[in-house]
Amino acid sequence: MNSLSNLRRLWIVVVSIVALITGCDNEMGQLGPGEEKFADNEREVTAEIIEVMKQITVNRSDGDALRRFNQPKSLGCFDAEFHIKEQLDPNLTRGIFAQPGIYPARIRFANASKFDDRKKDFRGMSIKVSGLTGEPLWGAPGTQDFVLNSHPALFAATPEEFLAFTRAMEKGRLWSFFINPYHWGALRVVLEGRRKIQNPFAIRYWSTTPYRFGTDQSVAVKYSVQPCSVKATDAATEDDENFLTAAMKRHLEGQPACFDFMVQFQKSPADMPIEDASVEWDEQTSPFQKVATIKINNQPFDSQQSMLACERISFNPWQCFQEHQPLGGINRVRKVIYEEMAQFRNHANAE
Ligand code: HEM
Repeated sequence: MNSLSNLRRLWIVVVSIVALITGCDNEMGQLGPGEEKFADNEREVTAEIIEVMKQITVNRSDGDALRRFNQPKSLGCFDAEFHIKEQLDPNLTRGIFAQPGIYPARIRFANASKFDDRKKDFRGMSIKVSGLTGEPLWGAPGTQDFVLNSHPALFAATPEEFLAFTRAMEKGRLWSFFINPYHWGALRVVLEGRRKIQNPFAIRYWSTTPYRFGTDQSVAVKYSVQPCSVKATDAATEDDENFLTAAMKRHLEGQPACFDFMVQFQKSPADMPIEDASVEWDEQTSPFQKVATIKINNQPFDSQQSMLACERISFNPWQCFQEHQPLGGINRVRKVIYEEMAQFRNHANAE
């Protein structure tokens, strides 16, 4: 067991070194703070990602209801309170964080790819805050979504890399994506990021991609959410494939779930890039700062009806206020992709 994990560690080191070497020719470091660089082929790449994702979604469904392409297993959807702190530091009082108060939110927790909760996986946390004052860039008024997952870096640096991944997936040849040395950085993220967990209320989540923070175009942040429950690591028994839903239920029976919502400012465009979602922004250089608290009280959430509603709800990083505009190629392509993919599955499932 020990030698196996040593071997895994050695493999991660080798992969990291190769990823560093192959990433050396990245020209994106030349951008200024908060600055984006659009690729010429973004529209075509987006269209092809959608086409391939639809194909995979239909193939996977086996005639049953269509699930989300990503984060398909709902662990639970909850009503929550999003407390925006009073008297935040002036540099944090931006966008929705200039509206202190307690807002209703809807939160979905999910597994990124596995239907058996006992397996290693990435986990997702999607937050929809409503009742805010103002028009968003896209979607319902007064509403702000945050879409996060359980690792600080995305496996794909750019939309093109994401497309290469989905093409390989469609052909059932994912290995052909990962053996390419240019994708060894992606392999490292996957090896490090897939984890077994005991309770979705007890782990941390990150946006991995950057967002504006206010009206100053040179300011960019990433988001992270971390548990603040008194006893968040409630040990669960891995007795069946749905044990994470049971762990959340048990947790809420004992105490509310609580999370700090935090932002991390971009300090250096070279080391904290906008156009490479596979780079984690260093927390020593720029620590996360708390701007809000999320509270989830005990509630019924695992009835068949609630789980069905959890299947239907959709989130989009562009359902956001202008001051929190998504930045970088990965975020730019997500606007149309999330909209089309949510419509695609919900229309098919309504027939
Ligand atoms: C080019 C990059 C990406 C693509 C193409 C993509 C694609 C998708 C798609 C198609 C869905 C399902 C949408 C629906 O049917 O409603 C989805 C859901 C999701 N994605 Fe992504 N994604 C990308 C990047 C990311 C990133 C950077 C994160 C966060 C760190 C993320 C986290 C999630 C989560 C948590 C969900 C579940 C949303 C829900 O609860 O409904 N994805 N993604």
